[in-house]
Amino acid sequence: KRIQAFQKTLLDWYDHHKRDLPWRKDHDPYHIWISEIMLQQTQVQTVIPYYLKFMKQFPTVQSLATADEAKLMKAWEGLGYYSRARNLQRAARQLVDDYQGKWPTTVGGLQELSGIGPYTAGAIASIAFNRPVAAVDGNAFRVFARLLEIDDDVAKPQTRKVFEKIINQIISKDRPGDFNQAIMDLGASYMTATNYDTSQSPVRAFNQAYIDGIESQYPVKTKK
Ligand code: ADE
Repeated sequence: KRIQAFQKTLLDWYDHHKRDLPWRKDHDPYHIWISEIMLQQTQVQTVIPYYLKFMKQFPTVQSLATADEAKLMKAWEGLGYYSRARNLQRAARQLVDDYQGKWPTTVGGLQELSGIGPYTAGAIASIAFNRPVAAVDGNAFRVFARLLEIDDDVAKPQTRKVFEKIINQIISKDRPGDFNQAIMDLGASYMTATNYDTSQSPVRAFNQAYIDGIESQYPVKTKK
């Protein structure tokens, strides 16, 4: 009951207030994948023009697989972490050569592709393929640590599994991709690293750390 109420509150808010982003226009796995890789180390507002230009230049998996490397690196200039671009092309070639252009649709299958880890696999599986799986990035750690007062140290690698387990029980089975993206939008608005004033947050009634006045203590993160 409480989980259903949370899902409804979150998704209603998302329906009215979601950010209008170019990779949210459809559920094409190629679009979701490229955006998620770009967003890994780069802010949303910076990514938008790069994403639009990239899609003009390399509109399909096939075009990325056969792209001239110098052109690809040039398109990536300014985003940094060039290994991301090299992995993109490697994965595109895997899809073309080994998968006949057909995407794997599970978290496990997606992680066979170069450069796709648990977060990206969860994002693609849920947003593009409607699979009810968590996509645990910094936003999800922060939001759920506060909502549920989860005390596990998010700096520890094994903590991801703890969050995945919990989120997989809470995620909407009907709209898992929107659920995950709503958490990202919450994490970018009412529940940022420095914003504890969530008195206006749509999910404040479900935010245990807010109710207890200890939001600033979450997520628990030790120095590495
Ligand atoms: N950050 C990472 N993935 C995102 C997405 N799909 N939408 C908005 N912000 C994001």
